[in-house]
Amino acid sequence: MYRVGVLTLSDRGFRGEREDLSGKVIKEMVKGIQGQVVCYEVIPDDLNLIKEKLIQWSDEDKLNLILTTGGTGLSPRDVTPNATLEVIDYEVPGIGEAMRRESMKKTPKAILSRAVAGVRGQTLIINLPGSPKAVRECFGVIIEALPHGLDVLM
Ligand code: MTE
Repeated sequence: MYRVGVLTLSDRGFRGEREDLSGKVIKEMVKGIQGQVVCYEVIPDDLNLIKEKLIQWSDEDKLNLILTTGGTGLSPRDVTPNATLEVIDYEVPGIGEAMRRESMKKTPKAILSRAVAGVRGQTLIINLPGSPKAVRECFGVIIEALPHGLDVLM
């Protein structure tokens, strides 16, 4: 079983104004890779908060995989990729590239996703977009390669 964290970035979700449907979709999809969601939180789009959570879940909770959802677009409030880049040891560019390439077949707006992926210690961190539909589409693109990537890091 892989230890998985789901981090939802949403100002409105944090205020309780919106149900976290994307988080739900991720929890359902990680079952497909023998993943167990052991950490889950909805936090606001705040650079330092996001960095703190990613560091804690990687270094202290020793998660194998952290999936973030939301905050990857162009608005000034979208800082998930920024936070991720600040905490990872190295990038895994193919993951973001593949998600954008495949997603652009569904919507031209996918080009606006700044999602990144990378490794901190033994934890793989992947940014997914915010909408449940986008999460489903993007996770579908990367799921096949994930177990091998996670095994290499263990
Ligand atoms: N990727 C897929 N597969 N499907 C989508 O509908 N929406 C895009 C994009 N990626 C989308 C997608 C849109 S509209 C935006 S603005 C960016 O992801 C960033 O989304 P976020 O700000 O919710 O993270």
